Amino acid sequence: MGGHGFSALVEGHGRRVLVDTGTNGRVLLNNMDELDVEPDSIDYVFITHGHYDHTGGLKAFLEARSRPVKVIAHPGIFVRRVALKPERREIGIPFEKEELEELGARFVLRREPFEFTEGFMSSGEIERETWDRAVGYLAEDDLKPDPVKDDIALIIDLGENVAVITGCGHSGVINIANHSMKVSGKPVKALVGGLHLIGAKPETLEDVVKNLDVEFLFAGHCTGLESFAYLRCQMEGVEPLHVGKSVEL
Ligand SMILES: [Fe+2]
Ligand SMILES: [Fe+2]
Repeated sequence: MGGHGFSALVEGHGRRVLVDTGTNGRVLLNNMDELDVEPDSIDYVFITHGHYDHTGGLKAFLEARSRPVKVIAHPGIFVRRVALKPERREIGIPFEKEELEELGARFVLRREPFEFTEGFMSSGEIERETWDRAVGYLAEDDLKPDPVKDDIALIIDLGENVAVITGCGHSGVINIANHSMKVSGKPVKALVGGLHLIGAKPETLEDVVKNLDVEFLFAGHCTGLESFAYLRCQMEGVEPLHVGKSVEL
């Protein structure tokens, strides 16, 4: 079942990590069922950032489990955030921390990079040396633009290199790749996720082609169809992401 949002199951190192939960729990649980993935078989949940289209399925997922689960994220995921166009609406996590804890979420909220289980690392807050793709406004801070500081990536150790999963790429895809290389000390074999390049200027896309140092780029969600088409034509190793897609690295 398709829908706006992002969610991916990562299997490796004898563990199952659920990265994000999409917008809607019904979609998430339907797809897990289709793939024969029991909610109780998930060892960790990794939340890339607090936007509703990555966290909306979390409550239903916790309700479908019979035991608690560690949820790795940045402490900023519970910030109240809004979009102002086309009209004002909430775009943050649609739940309170306490209600999720009551349902079995055991939050591990850290700003720093850290390995939460063997082979799986949180990037921590991503250094932004070049352009980023922040969106939205902070509802409780005079509607200042939201830098989406809570945007983190999952780094999976592949031995010689790493795979990196981003939810929306709000920190900017070049920053995400460079930061992941720095904290892991290894090159990036594949970068997977939404790149938030929808409506990007030609210069931004040219910069990605010139400076993104990865072997494979699996791009979907908020990458934008036109931006995706441009990258696919200009770079080697660019593949689309869609519901049901499976990637082996
Ligand atoms: Fe998103
Ligand atoms: Fe987002």
